[in-house]
Amino acid sequence: MSVILRPPRASDVEAAYAWDRDPELAAWNGRPPISVSLPAARRDYLSRWEDPSVKTFIIEAGEEGEQREPIGMATLYDFRNEGCELGIKIGQENLRGRGYASEAVGLLADYTFEVLNLEVLRGSTLAHNDRMQRVFEKNGFEQTGDGALISRYDNRRYTELSYEKRRNG
Ligand SMILES: CC(C)(COP(=O)(O)OP(=O)(O)OC[C@H]1O[C@@H](n2cnc3c(N)ncnc32)[C@H](O)[C@@H]1OP(=O)(O)O)[C@@H](O)C(=O)NCCC(=O)NCCS
Repeated sequence: MSVILRPPRASDVEAAYAWDRDPELAAWNGRPPISVSLPAARRDYLSRWEDPSVKTFIIEAGEEGEQREPIGMATLYDFRNEGCELGIKIGQENLRGRGYASEAVGLLADYTFEVLNLEVLRGSTLAHNDRMQRVFEKNGFEQTGDGALISRYDNRRYTELSYEKRRNG
């Protein structure tokens, strides 16, 4: 098994749209599924993917000898204080729990420290997102705090945990 991160292209729009319309993925992100049409979403994606203040990556995975397929998306955003924040999702339920995000977060950390030359990679997740917490822990992130959050998915109150990994941590 191996994972690569690559820049998104126009042919990724349909997959990105399907992921952003998935209520389960939206709930984990604390926001409602998108409701705009595909053409409107396409315009949004293509401009966001050119926006230098957000770095978007398509995650591709495949078994040895097989063609790699797009399985999810990762972003680096909120660049400040010599660091940035990561977001990640694996699109299909049956592809979760296979180690793909753990590997992708390792690549994002290498990119943040070695290519972007930043000092800290931050992340956060809902306190009941056991999988994401495990992904942070396996990649050497430390929990730095917690806070209350009102989810825009269901307007309910949740606890969110913050994590960070420092370049020399
Ligand atoms: C969270 C997410 C990105 C993790 O990606 P993934 O590829 O499924 O994660 P991995 O397989 O690399 O690692 C998951 C770890 O959690 C563990 N795990 C899986 N299901 C679990 C569960 N229900 N409870 C506790 N741990 C669980 C796995 O065993 C694995 O740990 P291990 O390697 O020590 O065995 C992915 O599941 C996802 O996209 N979920 C929906 C969207 C989301 O939550 N995004 C993050 C928002 S902050």
